[in-house]
Amino acid sequence: MSSTEQATPSFVTDPYPTLARLRAASPVSILNSEGGVPLWLIPRYRDVRAALVDRRFGQDVRRAQRLADSRVAGLELGTDVVHMLNSDPPDHTRLRGLIQGAFTPRRQAAMRPTVERIATGILDDLADRDTVDLVHDFAFPLPIGIICELLGFPTEDRYVYREWSTAILTHGSDGDFARAMAEMTAYLTEQLDRRRVEPGEDMLTDLLHASEADRLTVTEVVSMVFLLLIGGHETTVNLISTAALALLRNPDQAAWLRANPAEMPTAVEEFLRFDSPVRMATLRFTTEEVDVDGVRIPPDELVLLSLGSANRDPERFPEPDRLILNRGDAGHLAFGHGIHRCLGSFLGKLEAEVAMTGLLTRFPKLALAADERELTWRNTIMLRGLETLRAALHG
Ligand code: HEM
Repeated sequence: MSSTEQATPSFVTDPYPTLARLRAASPVSILNSEGGVPLWLIPRYRDVRAALVDRRFGQDVRRAQRLADSRVAGLELGTDVVHMLNSDPPDHTRLRGLIQGAFTPRRQAAMRPTVERIATGILDDLADRDTVDLVHDFAFPLPIGIICELLGFPTEDRYVYREWSTAILTHGSDGDFARAMAEMTAYLTEQLDRRRVEPGEDMLTDLLHASEADRLTVTEVVSMVFLLLIGGHETTVNLISTAALALLRNPDQAAWLRANPAEMPTAVEEFLRFDSPVRMATLRFTTEEVDVDGVRIPPDELVLLSLGSANRDPERFPEPDRLILNRGDAGHLAFGHGIHRCLGSFLGKLEAEVAMTGLLTRFPKLALAADERELTWRNTIMLRGLETLRAALHG
């Protein structure tokens, strides 16, 4: 999920007017990346959905890097971390096959008691406080707690993971990025070494055994963990915090949800559509010429598929800019589509359901404690997430 693109401040705060303009103007727009390589952006629902299953769009980061290098120097796409999400078959098939057994809908649903236990602990810790940052104090600890549980990592280290993923995703200064990558790799290598001596009942141990059976390399194990640690927590943190903001901004919808708690799963689908945590899918490139609704993209071009725009397309969703919690339409593309469709979608939704139910039940007077203009968003073009969200828990 990496791109060196940095977004403009207004696009970071509210990308939807820009995306609506691009969507209305043409099936494909050309943006310029920092280095000047053109990025072909596809914004309409129908075209994005079709592209997600079209094998003429490749995702292999090493090939994408060669394409970028042939145009400009210095555009870094992250070839040192190769995982299933930036690979094409057959590598993608092999890597996904190694862990998909741990992510069947049944296995994910079986995590409900763990999710509820962690969520209850977080809410208990908040109960006596007046004002909190819902991102840092509420949305963040649950997904990271779950990922630590899955991988068998110490939960005490969770704030360090957050620092690393912020540096990596926002591509802060070059030094921060390189340092975070190096520290995270060293940490993961050390965790693997420990499992060699003392195996645990966790996913990291399973991956280690797979590498010992020559089904993946140690570098691939590190990259897989990297993907799970970042992809599995940033996204869910974003979903929980933007869902909380959407409810604070739409009191009628919050009241409806409080009166209809059994509708939480339907509401979560709408939260995913309304402010999709992954607003741009992983960078793709054309392996041959592709015609997108009359616009021809030549071979070897870098392509962005805007999931956030597709999910606000009025051709697909009536009144797309309104939060309608009982919309009852789960056809959004927030988890992607096709062979790379999110492996942890059930878990992400389960976490959001449990978190939002707890928040609404425990804090009936929850209110925004910040001026709308003070809301800050994470500076990355690929993800959509709040930096902070100050709220008064007891009104
Ligand atoms: C609400 C939370 C989440 C959202 C919105 C989300 C979104 C996505 C999207 C859009 C993709 C595909 C990107 C593309 O095709 O370019 C993806 C892939 C993936 N996600 Fe998630 N995700 C979430 C939670 C999780 C969780 C909790 C995990 C694991 C613990 C996870 C693991 C993965 C993995 C491993 C892939 C790569 C699949 C592949 O390449 O075959 N995600 N996710």
